[in-house]
Order: sequence, then C-alpha cells, then structure tokens
Amino acid sequence: MGDELAGGSSMNRREPRRAMLRGALAIGVGLPLLDLCARAIPEASAQGDPKSQRPQNGDRFVFRTGNQTGKVITVADIPVGGPPVPAFPMDPSGVVRDGSRLNQLLLVRLTLTDLSEETRGRSAEGVVAYSGVCTHTGCDITLWKAESIRFRCPCHESEFDPKDAGRVVGGPAPRRLPRVPVKVVDGVPVAAAGFLGRPGFQPT
Ligand code: FES
Repeated sequence: MGDELAGGSSMNRREPRRAMLRGALAIGVGLPLLDLCARAIPEASAQGDPKSQRPQNGDRFVFRTGNQTGKVITVADIPVGGPPVPAFPMDPSGVVRDGSRLNQLLLVRLTLTDLSEETRGRSAEGVVAYSGVCTHTGCDITLWKAESIRFRCPCHESEFDPKDAGRVVGGPAPRRLPRVPVKVVDGVPVAAAGFLGRPGFQPT
C-alpha cells in the first residue's frame, strides 16, 4: 500500500484510473486529476517576478496544501520515511514562489543509510527536495508508494526514486526528477542551491 501525502485528499474517482493506481495512494494536492497535466495549464513566466522565479539558495519552504498552507516547514514537520510534504519555496523576504506550477516541490525525510552517497550529499538531516512535476508530459506527481519509497505519477505510471537522486525506476519518464539541494538552519530546511536540472516536461 502507499500513503497519502501530507495535506492529502482523494483526487479521482473514475474506476479505470483507480485500478491503474492500485498500490499507491494520492499525495493530494487539492486538484482534480484532469487539471494536473502541464499542457492544460500555462506556465507563468519565471522571469522578473520573484513569485515565479525558480527556487534559489537561501529559500525556505512552506506548506503547499492542507490547513498549514503558507507556514514554514521545519524538519520536525516532515515524517521520517514519508509521505512527502507538498511545498513551495519562499524567498528570504517572505515571498512565496507560487507563481509557477513548476515551483511545486515535494519534501521527503528519509533514513540517511537509505540514501545513495550522492543524494546524501545534497540532503540535510535526511531531508531531500524534488520537483513535484513529472518529466514525462508534466503531470503533477501526486502519489507515494510507501512500501518501495517512490514517487509515482498518476498519468502514465512513471516512478522515481527519492533515495537515489530522483532516478526513473519505472514508466515512460525520460529524465530523473530535478532536485533542490537542502541544508538545515536552526531546524528549518533551506535551499542550498537552485534546481539541479530543469523541472517539468521538455519538448523535443
Ligand atoms: S506525465 Fe508522468 S508518467 Fe506521463
């Protein structure tokens, strides 16, 4: 069985889709499934407006869903082993970068010994941060497989390994999930750099 992500809610009730998603439960971002595809939602410009700029060194993270939406996420807020916490970055002045759906992040706190050496080096206190947008055709990643510790995309079943740099471990996604390196300051996860890799769907 999988787990629902923090702030979760069920998102799609069509039987065929339900069958396809067996083994993973909804992260729950409060959006109907049909609204999750990047091609249906124009991306805001990442230029100029700090709300639409990609995460940067020094950004903290805030809850993206649930009754704590907008509150700064601490390490203690992130359950060890998942489920992931949906987040947006927030710049040091307090501007939440929610002006672009490509800034959607998933924060997960994992056991250090489970992380690959490379991933451990980009994490802090087991916290890793990944793009919440699938690299296949850009759906929101809204599912979590707790038993195998994987993100799962609801659209075409791509799976990504947060323990190993977001590596693709199933489905048609052509690229790993981009990460945001994390450090911890006074018990609060903070971005140590911007995205490693470009988030979302890349047309060829
Ligand atoms: S958009 Fe994620 S698998 Fe196709």
